Amino acid sequence: MCGEWNTLVEEVDRPLPAATADSAVPVALSEVPAAGSVPLTTEIPELDRVLGGGLVPGSVTLVGGEPGIGKSTLLLQVLAEMARAGRRCLLVSAEESPAQVRRRAERLGALIPGVWLVGETSLVGIQAAIAEVAPDVVVVDSIQTVWDGEIDSSPGSVGQVRGCAQILVALAKSGGPAIVLVGHVTKEGALAGPRVLEHMVDTVLSFEGDRHHALRLLRAVKHRFGPTGELGLFEMTGDGLTGVDDPAGLFLADRRSSVPGSVVFPAMEGYRPLLVEIQALVVPTNMPSPRRSVSGYDSGRLALLLAVLDQRVGISLADQEVYVSVVGGVRIADPGADLAVCMALASARTYRPIADDLVALGEVGLGGEVRQIAHTPRRLAEAARLGFTKAAAPPSSPKSDGISVRSVATLGEALERSLGPETSSPKLRVVGSTGH
Ligand code: TYD
Ligand code: MG
Repeated sequence: MCGEWNTLVEEVDRPLPAATADSAVPVALSEVPAAGSVPLTTEIPELDRVLGGGLVPGSVTLVGGEPGIGKSTLLLQVLAEMARAGRRCLLVSAEESPAQVRRRAERLGALIPGVWLVGETSLVGIQAAIAEVAPDVVVVDSIQTVWDGEIDSSPGSVGQVRGCAQILVALAKSGGPAIVLVGHVTKEGALAGPRVLEHMVDTVLSFEGDRHHALRLLRAVKHRFGPTGELGLFEMTGDGLTGVDDPAGLFLADRRSSVPGSVVFPAMEGYRPLLVEIQALVVPTNMPSPRRSVSGYDSGRLALLLAVLDQRVGISLADQEVYVSVVGGVRIADPGADLAVCMALASARTYRPIADDLVALGEVGLGGEVRQIAHTPRRLAEAARLGFTKAAAPPSSPKSDGISVRSVATLGEALERSLGPETSSPKLRVVGSTGH
């Protein structure tokens, strides 16, 4: 029995198996020919940015995202643009009827002759369509609805999804087209099906965003042909997705000045700096365990920062409900946001707003010290470019043109130097506004 003692059978010396005609022959690594395939541009710059140039012929890309986020929209736009550039494109619609796809294409201005469409869920039918059209690019929307009668499990099951994907991967690898598989991910992140595909495919892209916001973020979770750090930004509009090359306006456009609890953090998304507003709101409560609610931020990190605020600067929020939100549907997991979050919380608690033209960056340690974070010069340069004139940052931060860096060694020092004069209490403000 495997796993029991004394069950290992001694291996008998075997003669080396003779190489057969189709065995692979080892070659010196340096003698391996460089991969000949040049990526095909998708004609969508934000997508090319994430892919490091485009879709590699014979590769398989999985695009995951929640239902309704815009996967079908994005990929139809990709096919239309690629067809415009002279590529042969095939869309396998395994979920929506051809009439529905046509309606979307009309809306997107994507009724291009070079885009072929087949409404098909059976793998055999899809293979036949690929053989007939001989496309450069194929989109299968979605892989979860594709089935193969040869595979002994029910349609939609993990076995089916994996089996069908395997055959499509083999087809792409044998000199086939670039294949893009669409996979729905549920809120819990269980890519029911698609997650089991991640190791099979070359590239996994994740399409994210809050359905109630226009902003969509595209990132590579896995990429065999390049780095995974790049972020693509899109805005969902009435006629499809539009790339956002300068996201600054999108995030800070509706910002109100002099409101306590608001601090701007120069985040890095991939290699791109992105300024985001972090908001905090605190409300007194008698509840024994007051509510802590986060949007776009980590609740565990918030708990830690609340403890540091309490112990190191004496700002206790134990009798307050606490809400922290990263504006615009962005998620921040960067510890470099610690200082900005702490400052937003302290500002909200004390009704002392922070200057509108200040950004805050730095990791906050358990001792209340402010620590250096990665990419500080790029973050500061972007803040300066967008008109911010002051930065609260750890002492070791380099100087930066156009922005004056206030070095703050501790959280206490940061608060002392950044919190403005107290504004009127909320009750007074209501009285004031009803007086108009
Ligand atoms: P869709 O691409 O169908 O999402 P997915 O394939 O990820 O499930 O997009 C769904 C949403 O996008 C839908 O709510 C309508 C919206 N939408 C627009 O806002 N503008 C558009 O031009 C299109 C085509 C869709
Ligand atoms: Mg869809």
